Amino acid sequence: MTEAPIGIFDSGYGGLTILRDIERRLPKYDYIYLGDNARAPYGTRSFDVVYDFTLACVRKLFSYGCNLVVLACNTASAKALRTIQQNDLPHIDPDRRVLGVIRPTVESIGAYSHNGHIGILATQGTVQSHSYSLEIAKLFPEMHVTEHPAPMWVPLVENGESDGPGADYFVRKYVSNLLKTDPLIDLIVLACTHYPLLYDKIRRYTPPHVRIMTQGETVADALALYLDRHPDIECYCSKGSETRFLTSENPRKFESLASIFMGRSVTAQRTDICVCGG
Ligand code: DGL
Repeated sequence: MTEAPIGIFDSGYGGLTILRDIERRLPKYDYIYLGDNARAPYGTRSFDVVYDFTLACVRKLFSYGCNLVVLACNTASAKALRTIQQNDLPHIDPDRRVLGVIRPTVESIGAYSHNGHIGILATQGTVQSHSYSLEIAKLFPEMHVTEHPAPMWVPLVENGESDGPGADYFVRKYVSNLLKTDPLIDLIVLACTHYPLLYDKIRRYTPPHVRIMTQGETVADALALYLDRHPDIECYCSKGSETRFLTSENPRKFESLASIFMGRSVTAQRTDICVCGG
């Protein structure tokens, strides 16, 4: 293996909310961000399709040399991570690593909720996988978990409508549906990396006593711990403090939205992703 950037993958813009915190927490490393904007959203797609798309994107990041890839996407983490780790990596390259976002999020939930009533807002795919309730049951069996999908939120973000008035309707609707199902919820986990891009509106329609957890800091802390514990991987992560952005859609469109979300000017390149094993 040779030194290379850490790969950060999402179906679209959502993973930028994770990248922001990873860059802040671990500024010395290089990163390659890949957004599969041409195929987003993933959240309404079947298990097999999300797995195929995610594997193709992981292979693409490997082709750029990445030795470590973070799936900064809950849908991909729920539907593809385990199969990629257990079935694909041993054939592709047993020395490379792929990590997800669900386990580190669940591990830190205990610090955020007082009464153990947790609301999970996520894509349909993540909700249907029940990954969150299964993982929470392992670590915190006493907790009461309600999972609800918020299917319109990702399209609003991908289409640059997160600040628009149309977003208010769907934010209020999904938050109130969740809280009606369990009025005792004192923590809402935004279990989709796109959702922090709607944070201000979500906060506005959520009662003040309910905490809202986003994943960026938690995932960044988990990655820092992982690198500490795995010097054999860490030594192959290049350290030039540079981030490169790749998208499967129009790079100019990506640049304009990503620059807003990242709070700095972003330059992106288009990359083709071959879903059939390439
Ligand atoms: N940002 C992704 C997630 O965390 C996927 C959103 C989508 O493409 O539907 O689930």
